[in-house]
Amino acid sequence: MTEVMTTTVALPLSLDDKISKNTVQEKVIDIDNLPSPSFDRSVDDLTLEEKLDILSGVNFTHTNGVPRLGVPPLKVVDTITGVKGSEHFHTPTLCFPSATCMGATWNVDLLSQIGTKLALQAKSKSAQVLLGPVLNLHRDPRGGRNFESFSEDPLLAGELAASMVNAIQAGGVATCPKHFVGNESETKRRFHNVAESLDGRTMREVYLAAWQVMLRKSKPAAIMTAYNKVDGLFCSENPKLIKDVLRGEWAYDGALMSDWYGTRSGVPALNAGLDLEMPGPTIHRSSAILEKIKSGELNISVLNQRAARVLELVKQTKESYSEEEETSLVDEDANLLARRVATEGIVLLQNRKSVLPLRKTQRLAVIGSQATNPSISGGGSAAAPPQYLQRPIDNIRALSADPKNVQTANGVKVHNVIPLIPVPQIFARDGSNGINVRYFNNGSDQPVIDEIHPAPAAVMFGRIRDGLKPEAFHYEISTTVIPKTTGLHAIGARTTGSCVVKVNSKEVAQKTMVGIEVEDFLFRPKNLEVLAQVQMTAGVPYFVDLIVQPHKPSFATGEPIIHSAMLCYMEEYSDNDAIAEAVAIAKEADVTLIFAGRTPEHESEGFDAQDMSLPASQVKMIKAVAAASRRSVLVLSCGNPIDVQDFVEDVDAVLNAHFLGQEGGSALAEILYGEASPSGKLAVSWPKTLKDSPSYSYYPATENDRGSWEMTCGEGVGMGYRHDWTPRTLQWPFGFGLSYTNFEISSLQVSRSIASVVPEDVEIIIEANVSNTGSVDGSEVVQVYIEDVASSVSRPQKELKGFKKIGVAAGKSEKVSITLKDRYAFSFWDESTKMWKCEAGQFKIHVGDLTEIVVVDQDFFWSGL
Ligand code: BGC
Repeated sequence: MTEVMTTTVALPLSLDDKISKNTVQEKVIDIDNLPSPSFDRSVDDLTLEEKLDILSGVNFTHTNGVPRLGVPPLKVVDTITGVKGSEHFHTPTLCFPSATCMGATWNVDLLSQIGTKLALQAKSKSAQVLLGPVLNLHRDPRGGRNFESFSEDPLLAGELAASMVNAIQAGGVATCPKHFVGNESETKRRFHNVAESLDGRTMREVYLAAWQVMLRKSKPAAIMTAYNKVDGLFCSENPKLIKDVLRGEWAYDGALMSDWYGTRSGVPALNAGLDLEMPGPTIHRSSAILEKIKSGELNISVLNQRAARVLELVKQTKESYSEEEETSLVDEDANLLARRVATEGIVLLQNRKSVLPLRKTQRLAVIGSQATNPSISGGGSAAAPPQYLQRPIDNIRALSADPKNVQTANGVKVHNVIPLIPVPQIFARDGSNGINVRYFNNGSDQPVIDEIHPAPAAVMFGRIRDGLKPEAFHYEISTTVIPKTTGLHAIGARTTGSCVVKVNSKEVAQKTMVGIEVEDFLFRPKNLEVLAQVQMTAGVPYFVDLIVQPHKPSFATGEPIIHSAMLCYMEEYSDNDAIAEAVAIAKEADVTLIFAGRTPEHESEGFDAQDMSLPASQVKMIKAVAAASRRSVLVLSCGNPIDVQDFVEDVDAVLNAHFLGQEGGSALAEILYGEASPSGKLAVSWPKTLKDSPSYSYYPATENDRGSWEMTCGEGVGMGYRHDWTPRTLQWPFGFGLSYTNFEISSLQVSRSIASVVPEDVEIIIEANVSNTGSVDGSEVVQVYIEDVASSVSRPQKELKGFKKIGVAAGKSEKVSITLKDRYAFSFWDESTKMWKCEAGQFKIHVGDLTEIVVVDQDFFWSGL
């Protein structure tokens, strides 16, 4: 039995245990003294205060509940790639591959299996609500959170999400798909306005469509609103979005919660329909709301409705309520499933000279740090602590006939920020490994606190240390560094406040920090960086001193203010030497595997990337190593498409390896050695260059003269593959992926049911044969695209309307049948009637290279899901 519930937030760099004594003081729930849990209370049982109380969080992961009646708090945690806990952030979890990899499987059944296992993982963390999946789309290759999303296509994203939601909820755990809606960019995510009408075709046919598809096929118990505005109003208080579309047209009756610190008002958000403000303690649902009820500004019925929804969520999640300690559930079947998801999601993009699959007797050179230290996820709330980490190099060696035939070199460094200074190289004044930290009130040279930290960081989260005067203090970190090598080393810090760095009492760097936000600390360490290059000698002690001022956040959302300083350091190293070492190994091998790509430092919640290129050092390494290799295979870790123009002709094979979760090493080895044939298909188009992306000119938000951040969706419904691509602009298309065998799709037949008297319910049955004409077993994704031959509005040339993944043994054929409905297959959003419209006429149905034509006899309109 847990004694008390407290919370910590997920801090980067595993520092949360070091700062616990400085963390924000939160309300503590004493579970021991709660009455026995009661799940079936009605609003009428609650006092006015309790009705208000239940509408917000108590801390980062729990809602308030109603202690007097035993209505338990809800525990809500991230996410669908790994279920994080709260009490012990370090309690590991099974880590599945990133959502982009799940998307590339195109396998609805697999997503259901993942959901079943996630429910068990969530229960092992005593969580009732799982915050996911993400329904936002891959709009632009710079999107920081694209790795968390399934696809650029609303049908694929919506179908996969529905399958997962149904399975998680069948396991007794509620889901909370996020972020409703338009959160396709992280730049100024708390502020930007997506200037698109909710009654416009772009919103309806693209961004809302993913939600519509999901809600047609599943009933998530909760939905999380997005941070951004749509059409000028924050999503958490947007009546058009919540009342008209979600609750009205789609008749959704689950609970709505805000993204963390995404509730921006009291009465407007309550009136618009936002049930839960997260996290807690509340900012907008204080007793002031009760005054508004008394004054008649807020109708009590609104509070009743919101409270009823939260009580309903508590009731629905009765099965997963638990007071047990969080544990790490080891589930061998789930590990095998995670491996299967990874093998099914890896996309073979190029395979010249049939370099893949490898033969077990080949001598291999394995280059790149991702082979020994893989990125299993992007960064931010989706990153969870794995139960174990497979190193691809080990799994490759295990499948090789002779492990000695597999040589490795680390290649160039792939960091984006300078790492923290290694603890064994720093010494506090008493000689122990660590730093001295002294906190001063301004005007006094007597420290209020003088202490030693074993890690090179000092963080105050939410409250300043006792004895310090708010905004009139500073703090100082000092330590002695002993370099291992001689050279021009990078030394500096990451600080939230303005600072000065001194080495041997001489100032080497300083920075004025303005407008630092909590999100910079959580997600954008680059913004906190201050660096100098200092010539240092191996074995010689250097005294480092860092003086940091407090800071004021640029805006107040009510979230805890963070004061933080960390020492960073990297000894000089040479890309050229690293590349030369890699080249030497490559020359001796039959095949070189080059691991390159991104890490959570490059793709993360909290920021968008600036471009879609690899760092120049990686490009240089790929080219040099490929040139020295007999055969080469490029393994790309990434959640987003990468501009491969500089090197795609230099390498023989290319694998899109996403971020592969804790079983990624085995999965990669299986694909490389042909134990599984690749069957992943891109769930997002890969432009040749960033400029070729249809969203290029409209993304991300920019600041206008009124100081607000605006983003349009200028490419309209022509997002992703719906754009008019040409071979000059498109590197690899949506839906593309090679395998080790060949498939032929034949005998396409399309028939229509005439059973329905309602024209829009007419069904279209699409049948085809899929033959595996190669020599190994494999799986193919049958994709059905619709083309409107003549339309009164301009429509994309093709739209995905159905798909099925099917396994076919070598030399065999399987029949595939996919059923669509006229209404979903042929309609577009008609802005004048604010309804979906299907125009009479011809529609082409494309499956592979085959096409059939269907004729719709009469126009019809429809609305709803
Ligand atoms: C993210 C959400 C996440 C929440 C809780 C927010 O910053 O946008 O996706 O569920 O934090 O961690």
